[in-house]
Amino acid sequence: MVVNKHKDIIINKYTEYNEDERLVSDRGHNLEYLTTMRYIQKFLKPDAKILEIGAATGRYSIALAKMGYDVTAVDLTPRNVEVMKSKSKRLKNFNCMVGDALDLSMFEDKTFDMVLNLGPMYHLFNKKDKNKAISETLRVANKGAICMFAYLPCASLMTGYGLRHQAVSRLDEVMDNAGRFKDVPEEIFNAFYIEDFKKLFDKTNTKYITNVATDGIAYVMREWVEQLSKKDYDAFVKWHFLTCERLDQQGYSSHLLYICKKK
Ligand SMILES: C[S@@+](CC[C@H](N)C(=O)[O-])C[C@H]1O[C@@H](n2cnc3c(N)ncnc32)[C@H](O)[C@@H]1O
Repeated sequence: MVVNKHKDIIINKYTEYNEDERLVSDRGHNLEYLTTMRYIQKFLKPDAKILEIGAATGRYSIALAKMGYDVTAVDLTPRNVEVMKSKSKRLKNFNCMVGDALDLSMFEDKTFDMVLNLGPMYHLFNKKDKNKAISETLRVANKGAICMFAYLPCASLMTGYGLRHQAVSRLDEVMDNAGRFKDVPEEIFNAFYIEDFKKLFDKTNTKYITNVATDGIAYVMREWVEQLSKKDYDAFVKWHFLTCERLDQQGYSSHLLYICKKK
């Protein structure tokens, strides 16, 4: 059963949006991809069986399948799954299907060695659904599996929506006394304070590994980043990789990645 009653809003958004281009559209988005992939590869063991939930058009999943891993990819938006199917016709070690992060009942407990939840947490608007997406991700993970969860920090709503679209007053309407933005499904994206996201794992059977600023300041400062020469951009990427786990890099990253291990 699908618990998220706002599913149609999300499917409509991702049916219209060109998700296939997003991660290669500019240096900021590309850095998010490179950083996430760097951490995926850091923790992958040979012959790992991988599940990606919210795989969109398969930027990560298909690349991992091409490296030889056994990959299953699930996404809520049928159009994205169609794109994945057409891009992966020759890959025998790749399988994809329409599915919801809130209900992974098509998979047995303890099936995968790595589970990537890279998108669904942006679109869940109550505590029950957030906990359910996490518990389903962990349920299908083997003991010792690495699980990764992408999420948005509160400041990314202020920079990417409030400031960028002159909508700060709209954010003010849904802001609590601590500067947190309340969950509003019609706004499509939700965001977390880092400590609130970490708290979701308090009662889970996991060991915290790290929290990564996957694009750091690259997207917020994209106009400057785009103008960098290749030499300067390479030096920026080097600095980003050295600092992306530091707390002082995280608040203004547009995307964050929480990494844990199932005990
Ligand atoms: C921002 S995209 C992220 C795609 C890709 N994983 C990435 O990191 O670039 C979010 C994707 O998650 C999917 N999605 C959103 N909610 C979901 C849910 N509850 N279950 C499965 N997929 C979901 C959307 O259809 C969309 O393709």
